[in-house]
Amino acid sequence: MAIFGNSVSETVSESETLADEVWVGLQATPKRLSSRYLYDDEGSRLFQAIMHLPEYYLTRAEFEILTTHKQSILNLFRVANRPFSLIELGAGDGLKTKVLLDYFWNEQAQFNYRPVDISGGALDDLTQSVRSGWPQLSVMPIQAEYVSALRQLAEDDDRPDNERRVVLFLGSNIGNFGPAEAVAFYKQLSAQLQPGDLLLTGFDLQKHPAIVHAAYNDSQGLTRAFNLNLLRRINRELDADFDLLAFDHYETYLPETGEARSYLVSREAQTVTIAALGLTVPFERGEWIYTEMSRKFTRAQIEVLATQTGFRVVGWFTDERGYFVDAVYEKV
Ligand code: AVI
Repeated sequence: MAIFGNSVSETVSESETLADEVWVGLQATPKRLSSRYLYDDEGSRLFQAIMHLPEYYLTRAEFEILTTHKQSILNLFRVANRPFSLIELGAGDGLKTKVLLDYFWNEQAQFNYRPVDISGGALDDLTQSVRSGWPQLSVMPIQAEYVSALRQLAEDDDRPDNERRVVLFLGSNIGNFGPAEAVAFYKQLSAQLQPGDLLLTGFDLQKHPAIVHAAYNDSQGLTRAFNLNLLRRINRELDADFDLLAFDHYETYLPETGEARSYLVSREAQTVTIAALGLTVPFERGEWIYTEMSRKFTRAQIEVLATQTGFRVVGWFTDERGYFVDAVYEKV
């Protein structure tokens, strides 16, 4: 999964590596680490498990939307029988996307599928499984960061004149960006698209705060393990000595801003050594590291994001409970 939002502040993370991130983030006040580093192999495995949790409604809601509205979605994507290229940012295991692929294929839509991910392993697995499910479908994986993949596509001279680009950004990944960062990212996407191209985004909608809170505080402790795994990763990759038992997972949801934020809180005064960086980091008792933002949106915010970044809203598909929306933007 190629999450690349910083999610820690409203500024775009400049860190290219975990070492940079740790060097800057753990010497900052307050301490912070970008959620982009949550996804090592173990973090990706934990996130897959989180998506099946009873409390984590997001994945099921979006699956319901794509299943229920696939016909209307195809009607939006396929205009006057023009072929389209389905470009998926951060495709993961593609479970939800396969609902669309299957339907589009059976409806004889003319399209190809271009999953984009920074992780070659995830991309290979997805490509293989799509090829075995739909052997005739043209699948062209792109291993790159999102914007660079779109830039490559924009420079692609082979784009047939009448081919429309349809970008999928599912799963509330946009929620892991701060507000200013989301605007900057969508402006970059917009710059790589042509008028009439589409962008479908999965946004988690604001709802009863207790429902959101539970989604990031599950009873099985998987979200806790997912968050703490960041420290395990730093221990392994940067020869650090974080004691995982000396930190708690703490999550807060503020309805006014729609921001669910995750933290790792030091249970005691302690000093952590990060040998690979020659760094010692003191923690006070109760001091925290901000690790992830998972933002929830209102309809008005989703509409404003479109107009601020060169799009207009042309499709709005929700699940029955109104927890989640797949909004379709058209580049103007
Ligand atoms: C990937 N992303 C949209 C998830 C979210 O809901 O913010 C990551 C996650 N973090 C904790 N649980 C799930």
